[in-house]
Amino acid sequence: MPKQIPLILDCDPGIDDFIAILMILAAPERFNLLGISVSGGNVPVKYTALNALKACELAGRRDVKVYAGCPGPMLRPLELQDEVHGETGLKGYDLPAPSMTLESKHGVDFLIDTILASSEKVTLATTGPVTNVAVAIVREPRILDNIEEIVTMGGSMALGNITPAAEYNFYADPDAAHILYTCGKKITTVSIDITHTAVTSLEWLDHIETLGHVGKVVSALIRPIHEWDVANFDTEGGAIHDPCVIGYLLDPTLFKGQDVHVEINTAFDVGRGRSIVDWWHKRSLPANTHYFNEINSKGFYELLTGLISRFQNLPKINEVRS
Ligand code: RIB
Ligand code: CA
Repeated sequence: MPKQIPLILDCDPGIDDFIAILMILAAPERFNLLGISVSGGNVPVKYTALNALKACELAGRRDVKVYAGCPGPMLRPLELQDEVHGETGLKGYDLPAPSMTLESKHGVDFLIDTILASSEKVTLATTGPVTNVAVAIVREPRILDNIEEIVTMGGSMALGNITPAAEYNFYADPDAAHILYTCGKKITTVSIDITHTAVTSLEWLDHIETLGHVGKVVSALIRPIHEWDVANFDTEGGAIHDPCVIGYLLDPTLFKGQDVHVEINTAFDVGRGRSIVDWWHKRSLPANTHYFNEINSKGFYELLTGLISRFQNLPKINEVRS
């Protein structure tokens, strides 16, 4: 059995972030989740915080600590993705208000304090705009010495998904993404180049709907993503981007890529947030990321299905409450 990973997730739940949280909590033998920080992103931070709490409660893990961080980008107004995720971020299923409450500490303070205090190097997974992480790095660069790996969902070397040039997380806060890719650590990048090749199918959605209460919730949440992507990106199904980060942490053999240099466009123009991926090493700049260009989609969905099915013996939230 691989060693348990001391993990922090920084996210903006949002539907796919929500599924990523469930994946982590479905595998406690693999992850020691030190906490979750959220930022504004898909929806305002009041909802991303609430949705992170809802995910933990649905998973029967009221012990998990959730911290609200930066409400928006460092230098630009927040642009939401509520068309895709719904006004409150979980279009598709109306979960009950959580009984869990947020921690009072700010998400950036949580990142700095927890990483500095950890006796083991921490793995940091990000699945939203990276504002919290960038501010933490600027405020306390020493955290970089106690980070094992930063795995980030973001970027594209092909088409963008929020503009022709950029993927949403890097578009939302390009200045934060620039800080991340110039911090000196080699970032593991899970971009939409691969997440758009690992899409859902209606058969899979119907199957997981039969996997207990959590399976029913997950299926209902992902269906709007499936419909949106088929309609807007002419794909066969929906890209569930953030779960691919957790899939990598659980089984890196499902992913292929190479070390390359990436530069983030921070201009205030149509190229805002573009990840300029030097795949053919034309710029002879040192690699600052391990960038994936292939995912074993079949293996990823087998892994995800297995994790969702683990919740089948869990009592429904109201049963847990009573
Ligand atoms: O571009 C995909 C990313 O933007 C995902 O993290 C999704 O949750 C949205 O935040
Ligand atoms: Ca996200």
